[in-house]
Amino acid sequence: MNILAIETSCDETSVSVVLDGVEVKSVVISSQIKIHTKFFGVVPELASRAHIENINPVIYQALNDAGIKFVNFSKKIDAVAFTVGPGLAGALLIGAIAAKSLAGIYSKPLIPVNHLEGHLYSSFIENKSVKPPFLGLIISGGHTELIVVKDFGKYKVLGGTRDDAAGEAFDKAAKMLGLSYPGGPVIDEKAENGNPSAIKFTRPYLKGSWDFSFSGIKTALLNYLKENPVENEKHLNDICASFRQAIAETLCFKSFEAVREFNLKQIILGGGVSANLLIRKMFLETGRKNKIKIFIPSLIYCTDNAAMIGCAAYLKQKKCGFKYSNTQLKPNPSLLLENW
Ligand SMILES: Nc1ncnc2c1ncn2[C@@H]1O[C@H](COP(=O)(O)OP(=O)(O)OP(=O)(O)O)[C@@H](O)[C@H]1O
Ligand SMILES: [Mg+2]
Repeated sequence: MNILAIETSCDETSVSVVLDGVEVKSVVISSQIKIHTKFFGVVPELASRAHIENINPVIYQALNDAGIKFVNFSKKIDAVAFTVGPGLAGALLIGAIAAKSLAGIYSKPLIPVNHLEGHLYSSFIENKSVKPPFLGLIISGGHTELIVVKDFGKYKVLGGTRDDAAGEAFDKAAKMLGLSYPGGPVIDEKAENGNPSAIKFTRPYLKGSWDFSFSGIKTALLNYLKENPVENEKHLNDICASFRQAIAETLCFKSFEAVREFNLKQIILGGGVSANLLIRKMFLETGRKNKIKIFIPSLIYCTDNAAMIGCAAYLKQKKCGFKYSNTQLKPNPSLLLENW
């Protein structure tokens, strides 16, 4: 089954053609980072406008890269999937309108996909044999979620962020340090040359809860910088390495506590922050020591992309088919993870 998937939840306009959920025939990602960099965050109105400009060319490009001529859309594409939420209202709307137009014109079924399920199943693209149950850790710009995935579409959400998401903490820390947006990749790069033990930032383990809270580390950084302004490149690298270490240890500690508690044998990471070099290394090493299998997507599938939406859509239609109510097909900026 060839699914044309559309992702427009935030600041990436992405379209992908995915065969049977795992064979990515094409994935085109048009990033808006240049537009939002000067604001140190995504400006919703600018994001919507950019999606409007980008969506048609990105659809054409994705079809072209997959070797499908637009005139053959009806013959070659079996269903159209789109991110229905959570995300920015205006941005979601553009993807939904494009998907509904294509599905309407060519009489194709529509599959609404929760953006978080895209991140959760993005590892499946490169690991065809993975099966639930597993612990899912979504670490992105807007989320830090720990989820027991009992089966496809059967979730127990253990905890989430109480304040800043992991990616948001990296982005805000970068701003304090005078670095560029998005902050995660820049801090990651500088941290590679720094000493992670130089500054002892707090590890907010929140014992007795599966929630996360990263605003404390952020405030600790702010207070540290008031007393110790950045002196030189080495000092900056040490701050980045110490900050990254505190976030990575917190995520790793709680995830491995959860696999023990719920007797799971696999952890799957997803979301932009899973591109972090230390987080990848720490999870893989701790997994090896504890005999827990770790799956982390390649960098292209960590941040927002439509291939992960095509993958999640395929899994969903296998279980639920193509019958969705108008409510399920309506973009919902604050959509929660729901069982299928
Ligand atoms: N190497 C890295 N280390 C740490 N963070 C990173 C790295 N690369 C990207 N990020 C962070 O990932 C985030 C973007 O990820 P993603 O695109 O999944 O988030 P989003 O789609 O905006 O949020 P959500 O998925 O919650 O709606 C940014 O906050 C960015 O700083
Ligand atoms: Mg995302």
